[in-house]
Parts: sequence; C-alpha cells; structure tokens
Amino acid sequence: MRLRTIFCCVLIGSPALVAGQVKTTPAPAPAAPAPEIPHLKKQGTATQLIVDGKPFLMLGGELSNSSGTSPEYMKPLWSNLADAHVNTVLAGVSWNQIEPRPGKFDFSALDGLVRDARLHNLRLVLLWFGSWKNSWSSYPPDWVKKDFERFPRVQIAGGKSIEVLSTLSDANRDADAHAFAALLRHVKAIDSQQRTVVMIQVENEIGLPSEPKEYRDRSPLANQAYEGPVPKELMDYLQQHKDTLVPELRKVWEAAGARTSGTWEQVFGASTATAEIFMGWNYARYVGRVVEAGKAEYPIPMFMNAYTYGFAKAGEAIRNSGTPMPDLMDVWRAGAPRVDALALDIYGSDFASFCADYNRSGNPLLIPETRGLAPYPMEARVLYAFGRHDAIGVSLMGVERPAATPDPLLTGAYGLLTQLAPLIAKHQGDGSMSAVLLDPKGPPQKVKVGNYTMEVAPMGGGRGAPPAENFAVAIFIAVGPDEYYAAGSSVSVKFSPNTPGPQSAGIGTVEEGYFENGRWVASRQLAGDETGQGQNLSLRTHPADRNPDRFAGIQRFTLYRYQ
Ligand code: DGJ
Repeated sequence: MRLRTIFCCVLIGSPALVAGQVKTTPAPAPAAPAPEIPHLKKQGTATQLIVDGKPFLMLGGELSNSSGTSPEYMKPLWSNLADAHVNTVLAGVSWNQIEPRPGKFDFSALDGLVRDARLHNLRLVLLWFGSWKNSWSSYPPDWVKKDFERFPRVQIAGGKSIEVLSTLSDANRDADAHAFAALLRHVKAIDSQQRTVVMIQVENEIGLPSEPKEYRDRSPLANQAYEGPVPKELMDYLQQHKDTLVPELRKVWEAAGARTSGTWEQVFGASTATAEIFMGWNYARYVGRVVEAGKAEYPIPMFMNAYTYGFAKAGEAIRNSGTPMPDLMDVWRAGAPRVDALALDIYGSDFASFCADYNRSGNPLLIPETRGLAPYPMEARVLYAFGRHDAIGVSLMGVERPAATPDPLLTGAYGLLTQLAPLIAKHQGDGSMSAVLLDPKGPPQKVKVGNYTMEVAPMGGGRGAPPAENFAVAIFIAVGPDEYYAAGSSVSVKFSPNTPGPQSAGIGTVEEGYFENGRWVASRQLAGDETGQGQNLSLRTHPADRNPDRFAGIQRFTLYRYQ
C-alpha cells in the first residue's frame, strides 16, 4: 500500500514527468586534469625542466632579498619583468615571515606573490631563506634566534658562538624541516592546478662565513663528531663511486691512502680540505632532511646555490666551508641525495670556466644569479649557458631594480632566447648544438657542431658599441646534415667539414629572420658584403639595434662541400 501511495503523489505532483520531459541538471564537467607536476627529465646528456609537460627554459630574474615579502611593493614592478621577456621570477620566502610564532603559519605574502605572478603569466622559483643565507642565520624567526640553548650556534675557536645555526643540532634541523614542509604543503594546496611555482632553492649560499676565518664548527657537538669516525654512508658512497668521484675529492682521499674507515683526519688527512669535507657532510645531512620533508609534501625540483670554486688552496682564505661547490659534489650527493642540482651564482668574468666547473659529473647547469658585467653582457651569458652547457635556466640578480628592467640588453637577450627556446629545447643533449664565448680582443675559437667545424673570430663591437657591449658570442644549432641556425653578436665564422668526404666547405643560402610562434619567418637573404662575399658568416648586429620581438639577428643557413 505504502509504496503505491508515494508513486501516485509523485506522478500527480509533476506534470513534466507525465509529459516525459524530466529536467536533469547536467553533471558538472569533470575538472581538467592537473598539469603534470614540474620535474626534471634527461634528454641525451642534458637535464631539462619540464613544465606543463614541455621542456621549459628558465629566463629568470631574481628579486632583491626582501622584495618578495611585500605584494604591495611588487605591484608596480611586475609588468616591467614581463616586458623584458622574463618568464620566471626568483623570490625569497623568509622563514621568519611565514612562521612568526612556533607552528603558526602566515602565507599571505606568498599568496600575493603567486597571485600577481599569475596575473603577468610568470612562473616562480621560491628561494627558501631558512636556517642560512649567505652563510649567516638572519632568516630564522625570533623564537629560534632567542632560544640559543634549544637552537645552538656554531662555535669558533675559544668557544665563542657566532650567528650561524649549527648543522650538528637535530633541533635546528627539525625546526627548519617542519617549516619547509609547511611551505611545500601550502604551495601544493594553492598551486597544484596552475603550477606557477616550478622549482625551489633550499637555503642560500650556505657554508661557514669567510670571516671569522674558521674551517669548521668547533662546538662540543662538532668536536665530538670530528674526532669520531666518518659516517658509514659517506664511506660506502666513496667506495661505490670511487671511479666517478670528482677528481679534487678523490685526490684528497687517495692522498690519505683511500682508507675505507677511520676518523675524518685518518680518512682525508689533516688538512683544511678535511674540515671542508666535514662541514660539507654536515650541511648536506641537514639540508637533505629539509628537502625530504619538503618533497614528501610536494616533490618539485629542488636545488642549492653556491658561488665558490673549490677547496681552499694553502695560504688562501677559506670561503664558505662546506658549501655545495663542485669539489664537494659527491659529499653533497651522499648526504642529500634528493637535491636535484648544485646551482651556480656567477657575477665575475670567468663565466666559461665556472660553467664548466659546475656542469660536470652529471650536474645540470642552473644559474640563479648573474649580472651582465663586462666583458659578458646578459646576452653572452644566456646564449653560452644554454647553447654550450644545456642550461636549465639563467637568472639576472636584482631584476626588479629600476636600472635592471626594462634594460635593452636584457630584453634583447631574453627576446632572442624566447624565439630560440623551442629549437634549443629540441637540440639539448644530442651534440647538435654548441656555443662560443670569445674575448672580444682574443683569438678565434673552433667548435664542432654536427658535420662541420666552425672557426669563430671576434669582430670587435658592433657599430659604435661601448666596451660593455663589445662582446662576441655565437650559438649554432644543426637542424640537418648541412643546415643550421645561428645567433649571436660581433663574430665572423668560417666552416670546414669534420667528416669523411670532400674537405672544403662553402656557404650556401643565408637568411636572416625570426621565429613567430615557433615558425621561421625569413626576412633578408644575406650574401655579398653581408657574408664576406660568401667567405664567412657574420653575426654582427648590435643588441640595442634589435627589435627583440622580430629581428633578433637569427640566421638560417646551408653549407655544402666541394673538392
Ligand atoms: C649573493 C646572494 O645569494 C644574494 O642573495 C645577494 O645577497 C647577493 N649575493 C648580493 O646582492
């Protein structure tokens, strides 16, 4: 009886049903699947950053240390960055700002940063200013700084504490890891759909400060560890990788007899390098835990940054003992295996040698901090880093400073790279691309790319170029056995075959042009004076003469061989 009554009520109640026209609310469209999490992927010998499923070349700009802490301060600056073809902003996130009281997190500044970066179609790399920045502990919250018993400091000779959190303290490590995990949990919560944040730098230029001249932490905890045995994990790593260790580390270990156990000085000898290895291990173990805590929440790529060359030589001032520099690459890999790259901050003129030093033993080249200082303006640095070292990214430090953007040289450099990016990404890691960086007054250099060897000579600055812009750089990309693209400045190029067959090379067709949405658009066809009557290619145009959206001075050319 009961069921029948209900059925009748419904029927009577809804004429629509009777008329067979039942209104159903369409099921909401399934949410678009989140784009892949940003990650690193090998392509031949190169490591690429993959964002939204595609290789992403980071054309970065790093904000000054405190700019990212105020969305209001940044508001008028974003469009300048976008206008300069910057595609990624590197911004500091301060531990003190996000965790002013233990366990109480405030991400409002970060949320503003992410919101405004999205508004300008920019990606972000967050710089975790946690336990250490430029060696010192200026970013931990006051409740950490004040409680020096619970959060111990490094001690120098004589037992004096300095403003550097000790790596030997689990309390320091766990407090940093806890805050870092909260940060990554929050980034995941607000960004796993848009993927605005593509990488994280963990801490900043760490290692003991150069002043006071101290090689290692001399706190009781540190002394006890230094007099104790080298941890088994590090000894196992050294033995398992003894054939691939960076030569500088192997030399130190072998000089002390390549022992498989013992105290630090027994295994590495009684030298300052031993103190650097000891500190490197302890920083790596500490940061390794912080990184694991962060990746457990949101496993996007994480890197360290440093600016140091190698072990201090006798009589040389030590710099940043324990820092993630190439000579300590294996120690860092053993202690912090989930760190994806040891990145390089390079301001000086020895750009090429530093790139080679950091881009070895499988470590990808990533440059979070550089500037266009003579003799290598930004264009020279970015073309060389991407073309010669398959870089993941390059970034100008202090990018929001008035003088920096829009700066024709930066806009020119990043405008050119934006056009070349798909081609570069396609050719990274397979030997079909390279680049040269020349001293404008120096000798020519030879480089093999594909079937031909290029002899590249500097041509002295473009028309009336002031010294700072008198640079010589070129990138070459082989897209066929006899077909290439090239870009750069103030060089002339001669060619010779480097495979069997007729041994003379000639220049065929040369087009100058630009890429529009990845499609080549030829403008002038170059010959006569513009190709030295067919004897050499000239990449001449001066950056300031370029229109970064169009004539970026890219050339496409064919070569042929004859006997
Ligand atoms: C290198 C550091 O990594 C940056 O944060 C900044 O302090 C520069 N030095 C100097 O401006």
